[in-house]
Amino acid sequence: MKILVTGGLGFIGSHTVVELQNAGHEVVIIDNLSNSSEDVLNGIFAITGILPSFENIDLRDKNLVVDFFKRHSDIQNIIHFAASKAVGESVANPLLYYENNIASLIYILQELEKKTASNFIFSSSCTVYGQAETMPITENTPIQPALSPYGNTKQIGEEIITDVAKISSISAILLRYFNPIGAHPSMNIGELPSGVPQNLVPFITQTGMGIRKELLVYGDDYPTPDGTCIRDYIHVVDLAKAHVIAMERLINKKNLDKVEIFNLGTGKGSSVLDVITSFEKVSGQKLPYKIVDRREGDVTTTYANTDKAKTVLGWQTESSIEESVASAWKWELKVRKA
Ligand code: WQD
Repeated sequence: MKILVTGGLGFIGSHTVVELQNAGHEVVIIDNLSNSSEDVLNGIFAITGILPSFENIDLRDKNLVVDFFKRHSDIQNIIHFAASKAVGESVANPLLYYENNIASLIYILQELEKKTASNFIFSSSCTVYGQAETMPITENTPIQPALSPYGNTKQIGEEIITDVAKISSISAILLRYFNPIGAHPSMNIGELPSGVPQNLVPFITQTGMGIRKELLVYGDDYPTPDGTCIRDYIHVVDLAKAHVIAMERLINKKNLDKVEIFNLGTGKGSSVLDVITSFEKVSGQKLPYKIVDRREGDVTTTYANTDKAKTVLGWQTESSIEESVASAWKWELKVRKA
């Protein structure tokens, strides 16, 4: 089937395009290259031998969105990744996030609403749960007030999709990711953070390369076994495969509701120090780091209950935290050698 992947040259988007092509689907990518590069197309081609069609479109431009759907009137399956995703940046520049993440979503949904049927996969985040009371987090864990505009755009996005699906022919699946890390085993695609990495694993691998002097560990006085925050780090290829399963579920009309929600994680929590230990083990080198103050907005602990994805989607992760960190490290080595 023909599937539109917005943000398809980004970290999770590009890995999902590969898995969609591996499953025999025709992929059309929209990306405005604000946090990705057209070179990623070559990486995808190197893996699958199929060059996806690509259009450099900024989804904040309603006219461009309307024009795209006029030219591709046969598209009725969408995986929507395109969005800004840096928590700290969203606090400093909320209107950039509300415009980019919400307006573009609305323009796409307005086009889908006109169709007799459409299937929509939304890139959501465990951020919507905030600091949940009990672990592991299930899809029924209460949503907490967002701690950042970024997290709020994911909550608002889910609400908009749910309201529109009720009165339209749109069927949707909301995928709540935990922490995506790693790179494709072929080492042709991986994470390419622009500027100073905000996220833990790319900062670790850049520190391992000597690009960063040391990792700053944001607090070791949390109520966790080793005092550092706990997250659920999921390999990006495992995450990508879940998108193919979810998209095919809608295409094959297997969904039980107009809107379904799935947590995508490993079900295991790893602390910051656990990730550092994994890095040192897989790289064979010590990681220079310093404990500093907590980072505003960080939750103490979050990791997924994976039962629903396992029983309903028949999906579960395959990579361990060490394998995921090892692939991120191998990718960093390759990118820096290029
Ligand atoms: C993980 C842990 C930090 C950097 C965010 C978004 C989430 C998703 C992933 C987009 C925390 C600690 C980090 C550093 C550190 N974004 N850390 N030093 O904040 O869990 O999730 O990114 O999809 O929606 O909320 O990920 O990698 O930034 O932080 O100590 O230099 O590592 O305090 O405990 P986070 P992260």
